Amino acid sequence: MSMLQKVKDFLHETEHFTAKSLEELEQFRLKFLSKKGIIQELFNEFKEVPSEQKKEFGQKLNELKDFVHHKFVQLKTLLEEAGHTTRKIDLTLPGEPFILGSQHPISIIRFEIIGIFNRLGFTVSEGPEIEDDWHVFSALNFPPEHPARDMQDTFFIEKNPDVILRTHTSSVQIRMMETQNPPIRIIMPGRVFRNEAISARAHCFFHQVEGLYIDRNVSFADLKQTLMFFAKEMFGEETQIRLRPSFFPFTEPSAEMDISCSLCGGKGCNVCKYTGWLEILGCGMVDPNVLESCKIDSKAYSGFAFGMGIERIAMLKFGIRDLRLYSENDLRFLRQFNRVG
Ligand code: PHE
Repeated sequence: MSMLQKVKDFLHETEHFTAKSLEELEQFRLKFLSKKGIIQELFNEFKEVPSEQKKEFGQKLNELKDFVHHKFVQLKTLLEEAGHTTRKIDLTLPGEPFILGSQHPISIIRFEIIGIFNRLGFTVSEGPEIEDDWHVFSALNFPPEHPARDMQDTFFIEKNPDVILRTHTSSVQIRMMETQNPPIRIIMPGRVFRNEAISARAHCFFHQVEGLYIDRNVSFADLKQTLMFFAKEMFGEETQIRLRPSFFPFTEPSAEMDISCSLCGGKGCNVCKYTGWLEILGCGMVDPNVLESCKIDSKAYSGFAFGMGIERIAMLKFGIRDLRLYSENDLRFLRQFNRVG
């Protein structure tokens, strides 16, 4: 058989070749493309080809070489795409665990509070964290000399004292009353900031949920009933509430609400400092001056507002003793809260 015919036969053979596995393909590569393979051998035999056939033989041989190389690459890609691999897989190895994230305790409690008030018809509103004096203080009836405006309590921008980080979510009340007509029934969760030294009991930022209800004939009894419902839903049916007179510039009358200690059931323990009661929120009837600041007729409408700290409630529910834990991102802490949804 002439050398030329040999090349033609190989071309024909390789044209019809397919590989079912990478091992089979490797055999093909060794046979044709390796240093001792057929193609190299044919190149070695080139000098023995009669000179009148050299041209055609050379062309065919190069054709064979390119074709086989192309075929090899093509089959390799096809096999790899089909999931073939030459790596030996140990199917007895344990699988890699799929680690689920967990919800932050602040989020868990925030959703729980929102859920309870949703059931009473309250909807959620939010406002900006960077605020101005009007929304945080003035519209809320804070007199100009009120200590809350002090640098010691509030973060101000040095060049512009009218740019502040909100110290409470009550600023959102103002934004809502300025833009909506009563009836208004909303809760406003959000982050707030205070210029405090960081310790187990105080932080420079924390979270509040504020509630606001404005309509005709809203009374203190409505406030009390709403908060009692909340306390029982949040801390259990047996929970008692107690309202103590207090003062906030934006509510009149104002009160602080305690719940019977959820840990000792009111008998007295070190969490309630042996009083049987735990303070959880501030509340009151919206001061008519605040309604008027927002252009709501205080003769026609009345309303109540309340505000609570989410960290505080999460501390009571989960027995967390140090505020700093919430923002340290320590996985050993976060992994203990795996409730999702
Ligand atoms: N804004 C008050 C605080 O930050 C809480 C509060 C809200 C009190 C609404 C009364 C009514 O302490």
